[in-house]
Amino acid sequence: MPKKTIPDLYAMVERGEPLSMITCYDYPSARIIDRAGVDIVLVGDSVAMTVLGNPTTLPATMDMMIIFARAVAKGCESAFVIGDMPYMSYQASVSEAIHNAGRFMAEAGVDGVKLEGGRNMVEAVRGIVKAGIPVMGHLGLTPQSASAIGGYRVQGRTADAAIALLEDALALQDAGVWSILLELVPARVAEVITEKLSIPTISIGSGAGCSGHCQIFHDVVGMFEAFTPRHAKKYADVGAALREAMEAFHREIKDRTYPGPEHSFKIPADALKQFLDYAAKR
Ligand code: KIV
Repeated sequence: MPKKTIPDLYAMVERGEPLSMITCYDYPSARIIDRAGVDIVLVGDSVAMTVLGNPTTLPATMDMMIIFARAVAKGCESAFVIGDMPYMSYQASVSEAIHNAGRFMAEAGVDGVKLEGGRNMVEAVRGIVKAGIPVMGHLGLTPQSASAIGGYRVQGRTADAAIALLEDALALQDAGVWSILLELVPARVAEVITEKLSIPTISIGSGAGCSGHCQIFHDVVGMFEAFTPRHAKKYADVGAALREAMEAFHREIKDRTYPGPEHSFKIPADALKQFLDYAAKR
């Protein structure tokens, strides 16, 4: 399958086909996701929670993200791969933002980056876009600023907050983002923002009216125990299947069912005889 490009993704939206997007952090999962035909793969800073067990995304660093993103990029022939710019990799200065977005492209081989924020981030977005790197915006619940926005909750529930979201979205579009992820925005607000933009919106917990839909891989395959967000539909219970497999592995070792003769290797008879003679004299 050829690599999906932004014009391909725009064409899908143009013909009314919703975009599919999922997070991914490792090569084997990337192979599965890519073969399933998913359009966009996000190497999210959520790796700090889903894979590394932290309570927030803040401990993700650029060096860490590059390692995960490189593995995912290798596994995705067709999906458009996005590197999620981690906390403090773009907030301090425009030049740092450009440098770190460039690291994602050159060292990890991704197809674009994503960053959180609206009007406060337009300079960083402009700089990265000017450097030739596609940027996806991220509005609504922006987990890197959860402390400032009152926690992990639905955003844009007051008229002022919904207006601010629309203005942020328009400013990001004007700064050159090719799409915007809307996280935990009321469905009707997300729908109106989508209507007002000429670029695609991707919903995570923002209803059915966006141009595409994103979920966290570990939530939809049943591999994240801490909590399941209301918007996450469980398509498999991989966690339960893996636990069953590990229980059987453990049990079979204890009851000596495993390993069987079919799991062992043989030494040729003459070599065995020589070895046994030698061992007998030790
Ligand atoms: O880091 C992440 O996984 C995200 C999600 C909101 C998709 O940004």
